[in-house]
Formats: sequence, C-alpha cells, structure tokens
Amino acid sequence: MRNARLVVMRHGESVWTDKTQNRFAGWVDVPLTERGREQARHAGELMAAEGIAPDALFTSLLRRTIVSADIALDVLDRMWIPVIRTWRLNERHYGAFQGQTRPAMRERYGDELFQAYRRSFDVRPPQIDPSSPYFTGGDPRYSAAAGDALGGPDPSAIRSECLKDVIARLEPFWQAYVVPVLLQGSTVLVVTHGSVVRSLIKVIEGVSDDQIVHVNVPTGIPRVYDFRVDAFGGLQVRGEGRYLDPEAAEAGMAEVRSLA
Ligand code: 3PG
Repeated sequence: MRNARLVVMRHGESVWTDKTQNRFAGWVDVPLTERGREQARHAGELMAAEGIAPDALFTSLLRRTIVSADIALDVLDRMWIPVIRTWRLNERHYGAFQGQTRPAMRERYGDELFQAYRRSFDVRPPQIDPSSPYFTGGDPRYSAAAGDALGGPDPSAIRSECLKDVIARLEPFWQAYVVPVLLQGSTVLVVTHGSVVRSLIKVIEGVSDDQIVHVNVPTGIPRVYDFRVDAFGGLQVRGEGRYLDPEAAEAGMAEVRSLA
C-alpha cells in the first residue's frame, strides 16, 4: 500500500490583494509584494519543518504562482524538481471586475450580488470587454496553451468564469497530469490561486455548492492532503486537509474576507 501527499498553496500576497490597492486580478499577471515574497519563504520553512520534500511542481501561467513556488522551493533546496505550468491552474477569470477595486464593485452591484460574484458556485461576473486593457485574450501564453489537447474552452476566448467553470477546466488536467504522479506515491506541490484552491477543497472534501461560499483561502500557507493508493489503483484521501500554520491561516482567511 503506497502513500501520496498533495500540498496546495495559494500564492503570496500580490500588489492587488494588498489592502492599499484592493483590486480584482483574475488573469491579470500582477507581481508579489515584498510581504508576499516573505509569505512564500515562510511557506518553504513550514514545509521544511514538516519534512515535506515535493517531487513535482504544478503552477499556473501567472507570475504570482511561479515566483511563490520558486521562493518556497529555494528554501527547500528543491528548485530542480520537474514543473508543469498550465492556464488550467490560473485564477478564475474575473471578467469585467479585473483591474477594478473591490469597494467600487461592491458599491455598484450591492452587497448580495457582489458576494455572489465573488464566492458563489455558479454565478459568473459580467464579461470583460475585449477592448479592456485587462482583457488577456491576445496574450501569446493563451494562444499557445489553447492546443493542449485536453478539450474544453479555448483560454484566449474566456471572458468571465464562475467556480463551476474553474472545476470543469481543471478536472481533465488533474486526471491527466496530477493523479498519475500521486499514484506513484509522490509528494506533489500545486502553487495556484484562491479559486483553484477552493475548487480543490470542494472536490476533495466534498463541500456542497451552498457551503463553498463560506470558504476563503489565505495567501502563502500550504494545505496538506494525505492519500492512500488503494489495491485498485485509486486514491483515497486520509483525513481532512490541514494548513501547516493553522493560526496564520485563520488570520489570513479573515484578511481575505475583510478585503471587500
Ligand atoms: C483576485 O483574482 O483578485 C484574487 O486572487 C481573488 O480575489 P477574491 O478574494 O476577491 O475572490
């Protein structure tokens, strides 16, 4: 009987999750703040203290995950592990909200709708206009990624997504690339975004559509899942997911809630 381990982490604080900017990022490729880099270093230290040594890395195509992973793996002296980057691990496309401040959108749409756009399972924010400076459709990283042969949407044409859409585009990648590595009994590190971590929590922990609205994800704190590879070659999750620094995770979740 083999064991496997999955470590999922939201990137460190970005310049747009910083309280002073407080803008929706989605697919906009914003950098980390100095605090975000420090959170990523701390994540590396937390993994080192637990004896976690990732064998493979998966990130999105956005620099806030790429740089966070590099910083954490540098602390672990494991920058050499194989990596796959994919748009399927990108943040949820935030549609017309990309580049806008949270307070301005809350004011425009009212508390209830704003909260539905931000946390519901199946309500998409209004679509972004292709003429917007925050529309990423023409970005070469998406035209190249469009031919990834896994089916589903063309990323260069995506103009808004809800959590349900994220799970739909994530699932084929997960089955094709992540599950086989876990089945080898490896430790997999996935550095991604709030909505993708929420998607994984929903699927792995069986959280209902109604309850997922209450789940917020702190920046830069690894969450660990242990699996058993069963006799039929399936993955059985053992126990619940756990943040490596539960106290900091609680504070981080409260901070994310308070951004709006
Ligand atoms: C973003 O895309 O701006 C954030 O990563 C998530 O923002 P939210 O916490 O407001 O959904």
